[in-house]
Amino acid sequence: MEKKIFIKTFGCQMNEYDSNRIYDSVKKLGFRKSLDQENLDCYILNTCHIRDKAKEKVYHEIGRVKKLYKEKSKPIIVVAGCVAQAENQEMLNREPYIDIVIGPQSYHKINDKLKNFIKDTKIEETEFDTVTKFNYFDNIKNKNNKISSYLTIQEGCDKFCSFCVVPYTRGPEYSRPFNKIIVEAESLIKNGVKEIILLGQNVNAYSFKEKSKEYRISDIIKKLSSYNELKRIRYSTSHPRDMTDDLIECYSTNNKLMPLVHLPIQSGSNKILKLMNRKHTVEKYVEIYEKLIKINPKIKFSSDFIISYPGETDSDFKQTLNLVKKIKFINSFSFIFSPRPGTKASNLEQISKEISKERLLQIQDHLFKFQLNMNKSFIDKSIDVLVENQISGQKKLFGRNQYMNGVIFEGNQNFIGKNVNIKIEHVNQNNLFGKSEKKNMRAA
Ligand code: SAM
Ligand code: SF4
Ligand code: F3S
Repeated sequence: MEKKIFIKTFGCQMNEYDSNRIYDSVKKLGFRKSLDQENLDCYILNTCHIRDKAKEKVYHEIGRVKKLYKEKSKPIIVVAGCVAQAENQEMLNREPYIDIVIGPQSYHKINDKLKNFIKDTKIEETEFDTVTKFNYFDNIKNKNNKISSYLTIQEGCDKFCSFCVVPYTRGPEYSRPFNKIIVEAESLIKNGVKEIILLGQNVNAYSFKEKSKEYRISDIIKKLSSYNELKRIRYSTSHPRDMTDDLIECYSTNNKLMPLVHLPIQSGSNKILKLMNRKHTVEKYVEIYEKLIKINPKIKFSSDFIISYPGETDSDFKQTLNLVKKIKFINSFSFIFSPRPGTKASNLEQISKEISKERLLQIQDHLFKFQLNMNKSFIDKSIDVLVENQISGQKKLFGRNQYMNGVIFEGNQNFIGKNVNIKIEHVNQNNLFGKSEKKNMRAA
């Protein structure tokens, strides 16, 4: 019998990938996605723990669902993801409405837990069983058939930056076997996927050894680019320390690898990077940047910044601003430092809210300016766009250029899944708007 499920996802791209894979799994039990949140058999909340208020957001969300079922029998409530891993039993104690708490390395147990669920029992599954998890999912087809799809190749982190919860919530670094990744990629390509975004908390630390060969992310990129039907390859999130020459080299030879490098630096001050235990310097970062733009001048950078890490002086912050001005990042994430329980930086003295907000505004001012300038540089140019979908309720189509900008234009539905040329007419901070070129009619 068909049962209804709703999966709500917070957090990073890996959570999105996981939610899709959880759905691939529970489908075997007869669950089907439903948008009607008031008549569900199961509600899954896939959570993120990266910054504060994450936990409160989860309880708030559960409270909202609770209200919907006041008079009716409740669905099975599952909390998955990084908050589940960090809080585990604590969640079941605090909110008895939750039935199952399951961490990211235990998702292979989800079907078993749902199939055998007995009302009013509480289940907590937070073991780090990464190998078994991936083996389980290797036997379940990835059904994603969107034009652009994520593919996790590596999970976990051994770097322990002093501010970050990921090593505790995702566990140690693990790289999936090369051939399993390729099998999954082939099935995505068969589903009609045209762009694959390789994922990992430290995606470029990917390392899988078989016999005497070590496979790196560059090997995956090379292999994927040999599939004619696959048009674009991206990866996220990488770490400066793992930006090895074999990966840098891919940018000179591989035109399917998109020229946007998302490489988080966090701070432009070596003193702060050291305090953060980042294991790289500003000079190392700039060296990577210079190597890359030399090898391929089309390359642009985006990054992540943490503002007001404990100990950050005005002078440290200025160094971050100088780096932003030097690299001219075109699209970045910047957040005020948020102390996370269990991490080394959690008890350090914090910088005042006023100073932090002022610094955040300043950096975002620069980042947004470079982003807008980059977007404006496309006006009156014809650019290559991979068309992803039709915008719901509108005649317009949505696609992305090589730098991940959203591009909106009127066009033929047959363009979906194809690369087309769009002449850009106007832009805003996030999107480009244009017209389809006549020569695209051949693609239609
Ligand atoms: N592995 C990637 C790296 O090393 O750059 C980053 C992955 S982390 C999931 C994504 C981003 O969240 C980080 O780059 C950092 O900027 C931000 N972040 C992590 N912990 C944070 C914290 N405690 N406060 C504010 N931002 C944080
Ligand atoms: Fe977190 Fe990235 Fe540092 Fe790992 S390398 S601890 S995921 S910020
Ligand atoms: Fe959040 Fe976990 Fe991703 S903490 S950013 S969902 S790895």
